Amino acid sequence: MSYLDYSDYTIKWATLPWEIDQAMALRRRVFCDEQGIFAADDRDSIDDRAHILVALGNNGGWHDQVLGTVRIHQEGEHLWYGSRLAVESEFRSHDQLGKMLIKLAVSSAHALGCECFMALVQQQNEILFQRLNWQIRGYREKFGLSHALMEADLNAYPPCHTPNSGFVLKARKQNKHEVFWPGLFDMPVPLTNASAITQDVLR
Ligand SMILES: CC(C)(COP(=O)(O)OP(=O)(O)OC[C@H]1O[C@@H](n2cnc3c(N)ncnc32)[C@H](O)[C@@H]1OP(=O)(O)O)[C@@H](O)C(=O)NCCC(=O)NCCS
Repeated sequence: MSYLDYSDYTIKWATLPWEIDQAMALRRRVFCDEQGIFAADDRDSIDDRAHILVALGNNGGWHDQVLGTVRIHQEGEHLWYGSRLAVESEFRSHDQLGKMLIKLAVSSAHALGCECFMALVQQQNEILFQRLNWQIRGYREKFGLSHALMEADLNAYPPCHTPNSGFVLKARKQNKHEVFWPGLFDMPVPLTNASAITQDVLR
């Protein structure tokens, strides 16, 4: 599927086994195959207590593919972390899936009492996070790479109390339906007696 095939996306906490399976498979593609940070699997003990978030591609109201993911977990009484943010390569920088995953990540933690939301951000993504109201608090070495330790400004992330349903995001561009069914929207609608009478009344 291409980014032009989806009319919209749902950003939500993963609630179904296939959503979690596809999120883990996406993470392996990004963090193992693409970035080479992990050999075969990036899962760790945090996954046992984290909430997994997903961006789903919607086709006619039907969810059929995980296109992005991130996870959040609580570390202290009011301290939360986000990690493993990943968007399918073909869908990057098109429909703001990364930005919306960050939005739900922070807003849903905020609703659960989070007062400080942090992430270790790969350096090439610092600007993305800064534009989304995050500040750099220092730098840390992790997995042999330098990461910025960044904190979200919670004022920019109002609490979201319904993360299981999340929200729907419209695609910016989409293939026209005519591609699948030429002329569908150009078909003449025959006038029935009833509609002819209505037309007469309206005239
Ligand atoms: C980082 C990542 C998740 C961003 O996802 P994305 O869906 O491409 O991001 P978005 O489209 O929501 O970005 C929002 C805006 O920031 C821009 N942007 C995206 N990545 C950016 C970056 N690294 N630096 C600066 N701007 C960036 C987008 O072009 C978009 O601009 P627009 O508002 O003008 O359309 C994605 O590039 C990815 O999966 N990378 C590989 C894994 C990774 O690096 N994970 C993060 C570890 S910290």
